[in-house]
Amino acid sequence: MTKENIGLKWEYAPSPEATDHAKINKQYELFINGKFTKPNSKKCYNTINPATEEVIAKIADANEKDVDLAVTSAKTAYDKYWKKLSGAERAKYIFRIARVIQERSRELAVIESLNGGKAIRESRDFDIPTAANHFFYYAGWADKLEYAFPNKKVQSLGVAAQIIPWNFPLLMAAWKIAPALATGNTVVLKPAESTPLTALKLAEIIQDCDLPPGVVNIITGFGATGAAMVNHPMVSKVAFTGSTDVGKLIQKSIAGTTKKLTLELGGKAANIVFDDAPINQAVEGIVNGIFFNQGHVCCAGSRLFVQENIAEEVISKLKARMQTLLVGNPLDKNTDIGAINSKEQLDKINNYLKIGVNEGLEIYQSDNCSLPKKGFFCKPTLFIGAAQSNRVVQEEIFGPVLTIQTFRTIEEVIEKANNIPYGLSAGVWTDKGSKIFNLTSKMRAGVVWANTYNKFDPTSPFGGYKESGFGREGGLHGLAPYVNLI
Ligand code: NAI
Ligand code: MG
Repeated sequence: MTKENIGLKWEYAPSPEATDHAKINKQYELFINGKFTKPNSKKCYNTINPATEEVIAKIADANEKDVDLAVTSAKTAYDKYWKKLSGAERAKYIFRIARVIQERSRELAVIESLNGGKAIRESRDFDIPTAANHFFYYAGWADKLEYAFPNKKVQSLGVAAQIIPWNFPLLMAAWKIAPALATGNTVVLKPAESTPLTALKLAEIIQDCDLPPGVVNIITGFGATGAAMVNHPMVSKVAFTGSTDVGKLIQKSIAGTTKKLTLELGGKAANIVFDDAPINQAVEGIVNGIFFNQGHVCCAGSRLFVQENIAEEVISKLKARMQTLLVGNPLDKNTDIGAINSKEQLDKINNYLKIGVNEGLEIYQSDNCSLPKKGFFCKPTLFIGAAQSNRVVQEEIFGPVLTIQTFRTIEEVIEKANNIPYGLSAGVWTDKGSKIFNLTSKMRAGVVWANTYNKFDPTSPFGGYKESGFGREGGLHGLAPYVNLI
């Protein structure tokens, strides 16, 4: 690469994805017992488009009574038919959901980007297809549970209360609902308050797929709604993805009960580049790991460790690549980085930018990118010369912010990479298979990617160590939290 051809930003004509085909109601009620139902609370709130700050729809805010109705309907559906249904029959319903998600993928992708702010490229090419794939994959297991757990009798648990965050709204719903249904449980799911729309579209899909009423209930609301779900006595299983703070609260509140729990919490992944790595490929992996999806990824490669002798080259190539990143309208097909999900999250990220600067770190942001006037946007940012003790290194920022540290030996980098409260994922870039195996066996991280980053597949399990939570989602492992084995 010469100086002339790096850092070149192409001027693209705008290429916005059409939105007229996406059917969004002005108001949404709670999906309970197969029907959209007015909330007892009589309360609702506005959900907005974070790229424009415009209101998209009114969303019901469920109270304890609404939660009770949803859980009761899930329990009735479980006792009356779902637990009696054969695996092959359950599979038919789950396959049907997968196929309808595929059929409506264009509409779902647009709504995901409108409501969540992520670039349409991400929602169209990753979120929605991967959500459909999870339903396909777990539909396949529904009639094969005896092979998943040989020599055991597999029992479903009952009602699963599932609470999900805003970074992958439909995909997280699929991760949670598909294995629960495949194993014979019924569900009450709550999407995050800022991104309820694709979960509510999923409720419509579930209605169209003729699932027996009450097998899946989707209710909306804030933390109090989630807490009421967790504490409901008829719930047998709680699955949560979100912040470590709320994860700890949930763990405390169900202590002493027989409720099963899986927690998928924060992360602060190390992305480690050795001097024998394919550098251009690694730079692309670093960018993919932290900047795409606005860094709203629990497994984002937010701490870069570069071997000292190649640090200069990697950092200069990274800066050049950042000059070409397009930040802006999530619905534009050229956009690399869309909107930050909420004002609250943008404030949090901006606060960390201040903290990093006050900690004396060198900050780098592309000067080739201007942010839209309205909406919540953040420039991709590097903090160069970071140290283990920096807050920006230790704490989860959940935005497009990358800290850069250098290392000399493999022992040093393993020590530094592990010296963090989290342990969800990591990445390693090297030409040597032996280094990869050495590192993967010593990293305290649930997933370690080698010479790639952020690759997902329904067949591979995902989950963390330490404060990143426990339990696995995806793959054969993802069935276990939803069954009792005798
Ligand atoms: P959060 O943990 O408060 O929200 C996640 C979900 O939990 C939402 O559906 C929310 O309504 C629900 N919830 C909130 N309080 C609850 C309670 N007491 N009981 C039951 N459910 C409750 O996360 P938030 O506030 O949206 O984001 C804060 C930070 O958490 C982010 O800045 C980020 O660092 C981290 N985060 C991590 C995620 C991950 O995938 N691991 C996803 C989202 C956020
Ligand atoms: Mg919160």
